[in-house]
Amino acid sequence: MAWLKARIPVDFDRLRDLTNEPVPGHLKRWWFALGGIPAYLFLVQIATGVLLMLYYVPEPGRAYDSVRHISSEVGFGWWLRSLHKWSASGMIVAVCLHTLRVFFTGAYRKPRELTWVIGCCLFFATLMAGLSGYSLVYEQLSYWGATVTSNLAGALPWIGGFLARLIRGGEEVGAATLTRFFVVHVAIVPAVIMLLVALHIVLVRVHGMTELKFKNATSEPRFFPFIPDHLLTELAIALILMIVLNVLTVLAPAGLGERANPQVTPEHIRPEWYFYFAFRWLKLTSLKVGVLGTGAAALLMVLWPAVDVGLKRLSPRRELSIAFGVAAVLVVVVFTIWEALV
Ligand code: HEM
Repeated sequence: MAWLKARIPVDFDRLRDLTNEPVPGHLKRWWFALGGIPAYLFLVQIATGVLLMLYYVPEPGRAYDSVRHISSEVGFGWWLRSLHKWSASGMIVAVCLHTLRVFFTGAYRKPRELTWVIGCCLFFATLMAGLSGYSLVYEQLSYWGATVTSNLAGALPWIGGFLARLIRGGEEVGAATLTRFFVVHVAIVPAVIMLLVALHIVLVRVHGMTELKFKNATSEPRFFPFIPDHLLTELAIALILMIVLNVLTVLAPAGLGERANPQVTPEHIRPEWYFYFAFRWLKLTSLKVGVLGTGAAALLMVLWPAVDVGLKRLSPRRELSIAFGVAAVLVVVVFTIWEALV
């Protein structure tokens, strides 16, 4: 330690003080500690993704075969690929649950509006990771998924044409599109997520977590130490998740559909489950209304702390935000189930 302290002249006691924040008592209930789960699953994504990259070839003629090679010939390749796929879904579920917890406990209110906005960007970046990753497999659904994505971008007013060409790397989905999705998936999105998580955690640390009070929690301490108490809770959650992910991986390994064929449009184009609700909404409306409506919903989510202030002024005693949140969750769940059943 003396050798290390001489080479890294940092005051470790002060560093411990800065990182070991007192955590509010309600975080003894693990479901309030959901913020750590997406962070943990992101690490799983990075570890499995780097190993998959050793074999994946981002070229239209070879991408599909390289995925098949990983799934059937590379030692434990099927396991890595399936773990990557399941933890991607898990990360999206975890981010959604964390968002709901923050929303329904009002933890986005003053002074945590920026923490919320950065959280929203993390939410969109996580969806972007899923979208770009799905297209890399180069099976029929991923190829046509990329085509639909670029067509949707093309429906935006003013910048649509430019955006569609930017995504495709030309007029058609092809080699340049795959390269772009690959770069977005393995470099841009992970870098953005790392930066945003760092900012997010710094803000959470600076403000401290919102203290929630429960009627039946008289035996709970008001605060408890982050290290080791909360860290151990997070580690226990991570271990349980690792077991769950492995069980899912063994019971339902990632499959492989038909090879992409730009000449044949599949009868049913379908995105990953986390885009079902947006897909159903698009089917119910016209292309333009669908795209603009989705954009408006995303903007509403980002601006919610300000909207909430307006709603509170309108009706100080009624929790209009809660009513709105319940309605929004119901719409998303109903649209998702509807699309899944079709
Ligand atoms: C990769 C995604 C994310 C990670 C790793 C993450 C991480 C965390 C962590 C560790 C906390 C501490 C409290 C807890 O564990 O619940 C936290 C709190 C918070 N997060 Fe996130 N988060 C993510 C996404 C989001 C999203 C999508 C939102 C909202 C749109 C959000 C909004 C907030 C807010 C407002 C707090 C403060 C809560 C409080 O004071 O009680 N986060 N986040």
